[in-house]
Amino acid sequence: MTVPQPFQYQGSKRALAPLILQYLPPGTTRLVEPFCGSAALSIASAARGRVGEFWLNDFNAPLAQLLSQIINSPKELGKFYKEIWRADHADALEHYYQVRESFNRTQDARLLLYLLARCVKGAVRYNGEGWFNQSPDKRRLGTRPETMQASLNAISALLRGKTIVTALSYENVLANVRADDVVYMDPPYQGVCGERDSRYFSGISFDDFVAQLTVLNLKNVRYLVSYDGRLGSRSYGKPLPARLRLTLVEVEAGRSSQATLLGRDEMTVESLYLSPALADELDVHPSIHRHRRDEQMQLMENPVPYGKAKVSKRIS
Ligand SMILES: C[S@@+](CC[C@H](N)C(=O)[O-])C[C@H]1O[C@@H](n2cnc3c(N)ncnc32)[C@H](O)[C@@H]1O
Repeated sequence: MTVPQPFQYQGSKRALAPLILQYLPPGTTRLVEPFCGSAALSIASAARGRVGEFWLNDFNAPLAQLLSQIINSPKELGKFYKEIWRADHADALEHYYQVRESFNRTQDARLLLYLLARCVKGAVRYNGEGWFNQSPDKRRLGTRPETMQASLNAISALLRGKTIVTALSYENVLANVRADDVVYMDPPYQGVCGERDSRYFSGISFDDFVAQLTVLNLKNVRYLVSYDGRLGSRSYGKPLPARLRLTLVEVEAGRSSQATLLGRDEMTVESLYLSPALADELDVHPSIHRHRRDEQMQLMENPVPYGKAKVSKRIS
């Protein structure tokens, strides 16, 4: 099944989505993504007809507005993209920098679509003042307008009429989830200081996040969190504390191409935590999903097909 993608996005869960969706209870009424980014999980679940309604939220307001326009006015957005993409050719790099300057001044979400399609590996970067400062990809021209229009139309067809989009800080979303919601959280990676990562518009505090999860547990909310992980035996990020009683499912995301280049055969493993209410309902135990040996992880390229996703080993 080809699932449409609105734009490349650093940390997109597009490739992992089929596996994460195995932990979505059948008959889920609404999927809430407080840190939606490119909305990869919601789009994948809509494509599989798994969920009736969606709440997409991202604190990055132009990004949230862009998702709203993709869903509600794909034709107008596609037309705008076509015009700006075509204007690219005389001096492509200069054109990019002009659009970037214009976006930073106006925060016009339509310009962000062009920047995401055109910037290096779709990897957003923000400086300390929140200005988009990523450079253009000098080797590629970005998604062709016809391809872009087809993706926008496909995403709109999947989500229109069933999705709300907001640009709140995640706590305000969690305070308003309903008892029958399932919440998928993919917060910004924990940077060195744990608070801010230049790849995203904003960072979150670890302690605040743990406090929010504690409240969700008290309310018996069903949720999933993508959080820390490891490369080989080295962990990155701080693990979520045991007192939250989360069930850890480790997912082998693939061999790290960088480690392979350095002659190390290391697997990147991402953590997916299930809330007590969700793990009880699905009867899930700690486990690890193995990745097929011949697959190389390609973080920002086409999604890698996953090995048969079955629980092959239990860890305690
Ligand atoms: C790892 S990315 C999510 C990627 C997403 N799962 C996808 O597939 O594209 C984390 C997102 O959290 C957003 N974010 C950062 N701080 C936030 C906050 N306080 N509240 C809500 N969203 C926030 C960032 O803008 C970023 O888009």
